[in-house]
This record gives sequence, C-alpha cells and structure tokens, in this order.
Amino acid sequence: MPQTTSATPSATPFGPATLHDRTVVIVGGTSGIGLSAAIQAKAAGAKVIVIGVDRDRAARVAADHGFAGWRAADVTNSQAIEAALADIPHVDHLVLLAGTFVAGKIMDADVDYLRRAFDERIWAAVAAIRALGDRLASDGSITLISGALADRPNAYGTAILAAASAAMEAFARGLALELAPRRVNTLSPGTTDTPLLLRTLGNGRDAYVASVTEKLPLRRLGTAEEVGAAVVFLMSNGFMNGETLHIDGGGRLV
Ligand SMILES: NC(=O)c1ccc[n+]([C@@H]2O[C@H](COP(=O)([O-])OP(=O)(O)OC[C@H]3O[C@@H](n4cnc5c(N)ncnc54)[C@H](OP(=O)(O)O)[C@@H]3O)[C@@H](O)[C@H]2O)c1
Repeated sequence: MPQTTSATPSATPFGPATLHDRTVVIVGGTSGIGLSAAIQAKAAGAKVIVIGVDRDRAARVAADHGFAGWRAADVTNSQAIEAALADIPHVDHLVLLAGTFVAGKIMDADVDYLRRAFDERIWAAVAAIRALGDRLASDGSITLISGALADRPNAYGTAILAAASAAMEAFARGLALELAPRRVNTLSPGTTDTPLLLRTLGNGRDAYVASVTEKLPLRRLGTAEEVGAAVVFLMSNGFMNGETLHIDGGGRLV
C-alpha cells in the first residue's frame, strides 16, 4: 500500500530563497560569523549591507564579496549607529552580532570596561532598532547574539559577559511581542573558530583551542560557516520567533 499523508504543501514560503531581493543589514558582518552569514545571504540573492567598526576592513570585505553596501560605525555610539543606518530606506532583516570578548572579574576589572558587554549588546540593539523604526519591515526579522556563557558561565571573569548574553535572550523574547509581527530571535553559539579568538587571546589562541576541544563532544570548534548558516535559518524561517537557537556541537552537555 502506498503511504498517504494529510500534509498539504505550505502556502508560506520559507528557507534561504525567501531572502532573494531582500535587504539584509548585518552589524558585525565584516568578520567571523557575521561575514559568513553575509556571504550566505548574498548567495541566496539578498542585498547585503555589512557594518563593522574598522572602516578599511568593511570596505574591503564588501568589495571582495560584492555586498550591496558597507558602513563603519562603533555600536557603542548610538549617534554613529543612527548615522550609519540613516540612508538605508528599508530593511527586511536586521542582524546584530557586533561584540568583543569583554572579560574581567568584578572585584578587579574596570567597571566602565565591564559595562561594554551590555553597551555592545543590549544598548547597541536598542540604538539600531530605534534608529530604523518603521523602516524595519513588518514581515522582517531581528537576530541578536548571545553565547554559550549564558548557560555555562565560568569562574574566569566572564560573569558580566554571561549576564549580557543571557539578557539578550530575554530581550529578544520581549521584543518579539513588542515589535510583532516582526520576528526576533537570538543565536547562541558555542566556541566558534573566528578571528575573535586571535583578537582576544593573541598567542594564547592555540593552547586555548586545544584545551577546549579535548572536552567537547565533537572534539572541535564550530566553524563560522556553520554558525553563519544558523543566522540565515533564523532570518529565513518565518515561524522562528522569540527563540534562542543554540549551536554548540553539544558543548552545553559537558
Ligand atoms: N566566536 C565565538 O566563539 C563566539 C561565541 C559566542 C558568541 N560570540 C559572539 O558572536 C559575535 C560575533 O563574533 P565573531 O566570533 O564572529 O567575532 P569577530 O570575527 O571578531 O567579528 C566581530 C564583528 O563585530 C564587529 N564589531 C566588534 N566590535 C564592534 C563595535 N564596537 N562596533 C561595530 N562593530 C563591532 C567587528 O567589526 P571589525 O571587523 O570592524 O572589528 C566584526 O565585524 C560577537 O558578539 C561574539 O561575542 C562569539
């Protein structure tokens, strides 16, 4: 007997093809996870604008990959973000990934430096979303960034970054209601092999990677391409909303 199914084809398109001709703005799109997401969104036909803090890098990656545009702005400066977004008439998908590894123990570190974890994440998102206002499509999406620290903090001076990351997840759930019907999700990657590791750890990068990978179920870090694909998924699946998508190779289990 042939199998029958009651499922009817969906009238609602989903998947990367829905990005065709859509405007995708990726803040933090000039390196690592964001750059990989930008490349994949462009391959799906999106008009991609990348924003980073380093002007030369932003111009170079946009030229190298044929992006529709680039801007340079520091996300911790709300006026700079406003200016960077001012001449973009319409945004379908806003991706906010900009951030650095802000680390320091609360008894020792400079508090203004620690505040940066929230400035780069929560307050940068507030600035970008307010700056765009109604130019953010009502059927569009916002993707925020968290990280495995939100679930698995450690004792090495990451408590504030863990708090800022967890705050992004709660923020996204609130925004999913406040900005509806726009969709708002958070991506939570485990340790991912991007330029961030070298920027943060310098010569200590390789030793750190070796010590982390031996404990991970897959014995390797995630790649920027794998995590970038998760960003594209969040943008392009119209039923993903108010969610935190973990992509960590099972790292939270160990
Ligand atoms: N890699 C990981 O293991 C990991 C794990 C969990 C969460 N995350 C988070 O994921 C996000 C992306 O990380 P990544 O690994 O792809 O890092 P990355 O390769 O260092 O890329 C960071 C991106 O953010 C931009 N950026 C940083 N500070 C900025 C600022 N103040 N204003 C504007 N743009 C700024 C950078 O621009 P420039 O190139 O101009 O500096 C770059 O485009 C970060 O928020 C990070 O905290 C990463």
